[in-house]
Amino acid sequence: MPVNGQNEYAPLLGIHSSHRKHITPLARTAISAILFTAIVVTVIVNLTIYWDDLWDLIHGLPSDPDEAASRVLNSMPVIDGHIDLADLVRAKYSNNASAVNLRLFTPEHVDIPRLRRGRVGGFFWSAYVACPQPEAEGPDFLNPSWRVRDTLEQIDIVKLLVDDYPDVFRLATSSSEVEKAIRSGRIASLIGLEGGHQIGTSIAALRQLYALGVRYMTLTHFCHNAFADSGGYLEPLTPRWGGLSPLGRTLIQEMNRLGMLIDLSHTSDETARQTLNLTKAPVIFSHSSARSVHNIARNVPDDILKLIGEQPGKTDAVVMVNFAPVFVAPQGEANVSAVADHIDHIANVTGKQHVGLGSDFDGFGGTTQGLEDVSKYPNLIAELYHRGWNKTELVGLAGRNLLRVMAGAENTAKQLQSARVRPKYDIYDKRTDIPYDREF
Ligand SMILES: *[C@@H]1O[C@H](CO)[C@@H](O)[C@H](O)[C@H]1NC(C)=O
Ligand SMILES: *[C@@H]1O[C@H](CO)[C@@H](O)[C@H](O)[C@H]1NC(C)=O
Ligand SMILES: *[C@@H]1O[C@H](CO)[C@@H](O)[C@H](O)[C@H]1NC(C)=O
Ligand SMILES: *[C@@H]1O[C@H](CO)[C@@H](O)[C@H](O)[C@H]1NC(C)=O
Ligand SMILES: *[C@@H]1O[C@H](CO)[C@@H](O)[C@H](O)[C@H]1NC(C)=O
Repeated sequence: MPVNGQNEYAPLLGIHSSHRKHITPLARTAISAILFTAIVVTVIVNLTIYWDDLWDLIHGLPSDPDEAASRVLNSMPVIDGHIDLADLVRAKYSNNASAVNLRLFTPEHVDIPRLRRGRVGGFFWSAYVACPQPEAEGPDFLNPSWRVRDTLEQIDIVKLLVDDYPDVFRLATSSSEVEKAIRSGRIASLIGLEGGHQIGTSIAALRQLYALGVRYMTLTHFCHNAFADSGGYLEPLTPRWGGLSPLGRTLIQEMNRLGMLIDLSHTSDETARQTLNLTKAPVIFSHSSARSVHNIARNVPDDILKLIGEQPGKTDAVVMVNFAPVFVAPQGEANVSAVADHIDHIANVTGKQHVGLGSDFDGFGGTTQGLEDVSKYPNLIAELYHRGWNKTELVGLAGRNLLRVMAGAENTAKQLQSARVRPKYDIYDKRTDIPYDREF
């Protein structure tokens, strides 16, 4: 501690009596004036920042749902858990960032004018790479082929696009960076991986992807992998591990230590149950809806929703509701009210502080009426306001709940790291490539 002597302690405040006699009345008046001005300035700045919130607290939100939605989104813009723009650029433009102009209308769901109209303040860009063909990968997942390369290319395209529009996007790797990006009028750009198959069975690869800025990993996509069982698509799959594999349990610990959010969308029910029990950090479902509202395997059942919460034995989490028509409602019936039904249902089981938005935009075909693209989130906020959600609850749904969970995972990581928990060195036990005989 760089302390040179007792006199270093708060000399301006005259704590040491030996200094007191040196402060003249004039100096004292000057100090008071400076302190007073500082307080007045702070109060004015805070009043300006929080003026709308204060107004709404006193007067309530406007009764018109669209105006109310707009005021909610002034306080907290939308932070979406899952957008597939990077895969669109990969599939349609071979990763050529300059071939896409996000300032113009794009053929799918996402571009800058519509992000702005939809009041988006941030989203997780999914660095998605499809599951390998099972025959090519082999029964023990030993040949994930180009998945790690393709994941790096997806991260690259996110960063190139973010760099191309510095007035619009800003890369964010923590809850506080998200808030900072929003305050500067930018769209916070986070990166998520969509399946354990993308790290080639390697926990070391996960650590390096964290270093590149990735902040969540969905444990599985539609396929099982070396870490965990997938939940399949419309129907459940025959389990391979019965939830987490032994290496998957280690992976959970390492994700907690790193501060990489665990995403339970796409996983089997047993994977989700075991992970909620094992994790020391809050988790997310980055883009999942409710099975009780629309009965398909990909949606979350009530018995898992009941494991989410603050009470002992429960885990903090946010379930970010998916807008893809196939997950929302029977064919032809997906609309903004049906999505609101999913949100209301999850909120009824878990509490409103555990729901968020994870549209899956650019990642599905078909249309959900009233939520056709990223310009339409305000419709959903208006619908829920109409159903009785208040401002605090809607601010949570829009983004605050996710930020709480992110900050929770960051705190867990900080605690584990300051307790000197070591990184996991475990190697997938079916690998035969290491150790090996060297010639020297
Ligand atoms: C990328 O797209 C731009 C704009 O369409 C084009 O001029 C350029 O040749 C493309 N680059 C490559 C390597 O394909
Ligand atoms: C995890 O499961 C064990 C045994 O099934 C149970 O005793 C424990 O309370 C659970 N922990 C949490 C956090 O759910
Ligand atoms: C959504 O669809 C249902 C029927 O499937 C209908 O009753 C409801 O009015 C629709 N809501 C909107 C906002 O169109
Ligand atoms: C949620 O609970 C409220 C109040 O108990 C009820 O009116 C509403 O119908 C429920 N919504 C769903 C989707 O379960
Ligand atoms: C909104 O409802 C919650 C309960 O869910 C309550 O705690 C909160 O004070 C309410 N907020 C406003 C602004 O009415």
